[in-house]
Amino acid sequence: MRASRYTIFVYAGIIGVPVVMLVMVAGFALGSPYAFTLIPMLLALALIVFGVSGIADIYLHPTYPGSMKRISNGAETENKARPRDRSGVPVAISIKRFNNETKQFDITTYEAYANDRTTVLGAMLDIKDYQDNTLSIRCNCRMGICGSCGMVVNGKPVLACETNLMKVSGGGAVEISPMLGHPALKDVVADFEDFFNRHKSVSPTLYRDDQKEKYAARKEYAQSKEDLDRYLPYSYCIMCGLCLDACPVVNSNPNFIGPQALSQVYRYYSDSRDQKGKRRLFDVDSVEDAWGCEFSGSCSTACPKGVDPAGAIQLLKGDLMKNILEKE
Ligand code: SF4
Ligand code: FES
Repeated sequence: MRASRYTIFVYAGIIGVPVVMLVMVAGFALGSPYAFTLIPMLLALALIVFGVSGIADIYLHPTYPGSMKRISNGAETENKARPRDRSGVPVAISIKRFNNETKQFDITTYEAYANDRTTVLGAMLDIKDYQDNTLSIRCNCRMGICGSCGMVVNGKPVLACETNLMKVSGGGAVEISPMLGHPALKDVVADFEDFFNRHKSVSPTLYRDDQKEKYAARKEYAQSKEDLDRYLPYSYCIMCGLCLDACPVVNSNPNFIGPQALSQVYRYYSDSRDQKGKRRLFDVDSVEDAWGCEFSGSCSTACPKGVDPAGAIQLLKGDLMKNILEKE
């Protein structure tokens, strides 16, 4: 509806403006007294009507954040632009929400509809659209790429956009809570500042001795397939934070840097283009870094991208041991 209306405006502009100009020129040639008064006034009036109608269309549209038609909290409202999809079976979704004013958790249960294609994220967005627009969710790509929709579903840290609601609920009920390995911000949204700081602390970029050459390289840094295979799996990290949430060590000892940052140390340490070499290795030679890992493996189980942080940490430990033994 919106698209067709805008299409009419565009065609009206493309065809209408030259036609009006032709009429003006013809009127001027024929000596008409209206050529430069009445016709431009009509044109200006038409543009004002189009403009006001376009702005009203944007402001009154239900998806516009400040829309007067926005759905109010609690009351289920029909959205004519995008009617609610009620196909599938009803599922009870209990969401443990962090209240950032009282600093307490409240559990609210909603009803969503699940068919074999419904994701947990899709159901939560449906709840936000039609039942409770105060529900805060962080998401972006909806396809397991951006890493922003991590939460705990039935006790497991997962990406909500990659989790099938039917599978986890069995067509009955499901429990959702925020990841607790990160401080909660609001509802199921976690604060990632500390997580990103851990990531940044390991210098997660290619290091070159000649920094100028890095930013003005005359040719590409050639690599063999073997060079690529060494670090490629660890470069798939999307920084979703699920591994940190699943790690029992980081949850009991916050000083342990955690699996994500350590996997990135190995990612750059094993990249033939990186020239930081063993300095990366020795930077993590402590109980708060590589030696803090107790190899529970839960980080690798939780990782949605197959990064295997637990494996990367064992490879770091192996190389550290080799270097320590060589020194002795
Ligand atoms: S290693 Fe895996 S689980 Fe951890 S942040 Fe990266 S993608 Fe997410
Ligand atoms: S929304 Fe991007 S990973 Fe889920």
